[in-house]
Amino acid sequence: MSRKFYITTPIYYVNARPHIGHAYTTIACDTIARRQRMLGAETFFLTGTDEHGQKIERAAQAAGKTPQQYADEISGEFRQLWKRMAISNDDFIRTTEERHKKRVQELYKRIRDNGYIYKGIFTGQYCVSDELYVDGAKPGDACPTCGRVTETVQEENYFFKLSMFQEKLLALYCKPEFIRPETRRNEVLSFVRSGLRDLSISRSTFTWGIPVPDDPQHVIYVWLDALANYITAIGYGSSHPGAQAAFKKFWPADVQMIGKEIVRFHCVYWPAFLMAAGLPVSKAIVAHGWLLFEENKMSKSRGNIVRTETILDVLGADALRYFLLREVVFGQDGSFSFDALVQRYNSDLANGLGNLASRTLTMINRYFKGEVPYPSHAASKAPADDAIADAARTTIREFGNLFDQFQFSRALESAWALVAAVDKYIVENEPWSLGEKQDEDSRSRLATVLYTAAEALRIATALAHPVIPDATAKIWAQIGLGDIKQFALHELAWGQLRWGTKLGEVQPVFPRADKSAVERMQRMEDTQRPAALADQAERKAAAATTNWAQTVATSATATTSSNDKISIDDFAKIELRVGLVKVAERVPKSDKLLRLEVDIGSEIRQVLAGIAEAYAPETLVGRKVVIVANLAPRKLRGMESNGMIVAASLEGGKPVLASFLEDVPIGARLK
Ligand code: ME8
Ligand code: MG
Repeated sequence: MSRKFYITTPIYYVNARPHIGHAYTTIACDTIARRQRMLGAETFFLTGTDEHGQKIERAAQAAGKTPQQYADEISGEFRQLWKRMAISNDDFIRTTEERHKKRVQELYKRIRDNGYIYKGIFTGQYCVSDELYVDGAKPGDACPTCGRVTETVQEENYFFKLSMFQEKLLALYCKPEFIRPETRRNEVLSFVRSGLRDLSISRSTFTWGIPVPDDPQHVIYVWLDALANYITAIGYGSSHPGAQAAFKKFWPADVQMIGKEIVRFHCVYWPAFLMAAGLPVSKAIVAHGWLLFEENKMSKSRGNIVRTETILDVLGADALRYFLLREVVFGQDGSFSFDALVQRYNSDLANGLGNLASRTLTMINRYFKGEVPYPSHAASKAPADDAIADAARTTIREFGNLFDQFQFSRALESAWALVAAVDKYIVENEPWSLGEKQDEDSRSRLATVLYTAAEALRIATALAHPVIPDATAKIWAQIGLGDIKQFALHELAWGQLRWGTKLGEVQPVFPRADKSAVERMQRMEDTQRPAALADQAERKAAAATTNWAQTVATSATATTSSNDKISIDDFAKIELRVGLVKVAERVPKSDKLLRLEVDIGSEIRQVLAGIAEAYAPETLVGRKVVIVANLAPRKLRGMESNGMIVAASLEGGKPVLASFLEDVPIGARLK
């Protein structure tokens, strides 16, 4: 029976259109899946979309759509794009599918029946963008992950007894291969060592989610719902024998690839849920870094995304796939730029592998009528030939080792070192000069040189296939080897290329990109910017609403109805006034806080505001702001804060103060 291999990507939130940050995770997994298939493993590669929760519900609302319409649309975009990118996933799970919903409920019941769930009242801070409960945060605090202001949640919830799993989790982390790379493992270790609190796993103030079994007033916490996709997709919780068999065969997953920002969910919550359900945990969680653009994490809310389509239109899927895996040191953050992309494309693909293929195969066509020549007698051998053969053997070994350690860039580097060595070998042995001569020795030498080049080309092509599937399939066919998918990679060895193999039609696979390619891609992205900016404006509006929601939650929790709407009377309870900043200074030992003295007409208020990263104190003096004047005073760093300054909170951090275009008198009330 063949070895099985199960690999997953995270499932993507449908609040953002796919960009090359998403493509990065998916491509990395795809290359691993393709290599495993070539190695003969029975491979299952899963990806999908994460469609429930408050974040999606609100995004849909902002777009004027039902959550389902909205999810259908964006989930569809992901699927289309993955096709264009040659992603070879075996399934695509959507969390709004019936099969998923039912099976999540089965999982929930199992955990509950095992005694790990109880009902309680939750009061605390929540980050909707990360769908994260922020332990220990107070109203007004920012999310430690994304910097947005957290919202106060106070509701009846079901809790998961996460606190019971501390020791079991720590024991699990003793296997160093469970979390990679090491830096992430250390992060998780210190988080878990510092103690675990029980986790709220249901919400009862909105409805866009999977109902809790036997208590449909609650929906299951979106992370429990989402994480479960990894087992529901392969049949967990199904009563069909076929699905049960698939689950038995493929679970536990061999590799679960994630971005570094969702390590806690995958390395703490997920294994705890599985243990609570009596299921085995995954074999490895592998976290990659971020793709940066203009030095920031590429993300919809920053408006700094690059769309995959642009690169696909101009350079094709292989170019993007190769670039991302070659340029980014796996595990670390890496920068994207069109310049670097085109440079890599030209140097490594057009002038590198592509050129090696076309010059080698063209000469075999010209000098040997399109048949791979036989490296004939010993007299035609030179040490340089053996050097190439040795280099190829080393590359096969090295590439495999590095690749299987997720060191994609180094693996590709080693394969391309072989390409460069063969290029040099061709230049030094001048087959074109040998081809001019008719004597036996020259013919024989020419045969050896071209055989050596073609054989090295075959090996580099086979190794690179998982990364650049399209071009390598073409080169493979041009060498006359048929369908590369049928090739058993574990048998790859020097000398397998048979003499007499008839070449296919030789055509260039990577046309050179000229300078205009960069400009063209940039222009295509610029025309998209208005849309991106509109998205951003939409998000800013949503963030502003978020601040309101937070204010309302802290001051009027008791009257907040379950559908998130408040009455005009509730709103009237909030006293918003125009204030003038008289004094602004940094709070010692705090990066975030400023101490302000604000004149609100009737009095001067001291307010502590978390805006130090966005505003220099001196720029605020004399500026008019909006202040929540009747907020109960609270202490921050030993100082009393008497009111709250209203600001829009933006993803990734910097708050923007609410202000007026026209002049307004100090103390004026907003209503
Ligand atoms: O986190 N660079 O979904 P998501 C690199 N739904 N990778 C990036 C990236 C960037 N700039 N931007 C996004 C979620 N990603 C949850 C997961 S799993 C049960 C639920 C990648 O759409 C990164 O790998 O916000 C991240 O983990 C993944 O996209 C999904 O991000
Ligand atoms: Mg994210």
